[in-house]
Amino acid sequence: MRTNLRKNPGQPGDLPESRERLSGVAAMLAEAAASGLNETFHATVHDLADTIERKDPYTGGHTKRVMSYSLAIGRSLALSDMDMINLKLAAILHDLGKIGISDEILQKNEELSLDEFRHMMMHTTYGAELLNHINHLKDVIPGVRYHHEKYDGSGYPEGLKGKGIPIIARIIAVADTFDAITTDRPYRKGLSFDSACRELKESAGSQFDPDVVDAFLTAYSAIGINSTYKR
Ligand SMILES: [Fe+2]
Repeated sequence: MRTNLRKNPGQPGDLPESRERLSGVAAMLAEAAASGLNETFHATVHDLADTIERKDPYTGGHTKRVMSYSLAIGRSLALSDMDMINLKLAAILHDLGKIGISDEILQKNEELSLDEFRHMMMHTTYGAELLNHINHLKDVIPGVRYHHEKYDGSGYPEGLKGKGIPIIARIIAVADTFDAITTDRPYRKGLSFDSACRELKESAGSQFDPDVVDAFLTAYSAIGINSTYKR
């Protein structure tokens, strides 16, 4: 099952309307980045994040929270200034590739079929390909491409394992999951922050890098990742 999921996941932009949306966004990003990672560029990135969020009305504020959690973990791990900048951009853009996924799948309220899930998985590849057009963002790509890899090698798109998964992707994986499980969805209530921390601990070493989970828990207790983050 796990291996099958990585087999034949479909081609990037395999729907005409997806291809169109993806190339439009690629052009917009390239134009905004042409003069460097300045204010205009950051504003464009934030606008794009808002566009992605509007495609899934149930996750309002997700991108901002994933960015806050990611930066708290990065500080706790004492990442370099450069890594922190790349982490911030990758956290904001981690689901950029959802622009290439149909609304029908993104907004489905039930569990996805295997085919739908395979299509959804392509968002990591779509996102990475979009950023590939932009010179300034080469070091942001690993966070976008690999944020669904798992520490034990069972994730996607490549089944990378352990510390072979780039650090910014290992961080975003924890931040993204923490937000997903603490957010209410139409079909289930979000967990409390304390229960979610217990879940992260249980998945340390299998789904997540144990050092990153430790860093999250340190940030959680020391600098107050608390209920103010919740919508
Ligand atoms: Fe994702």
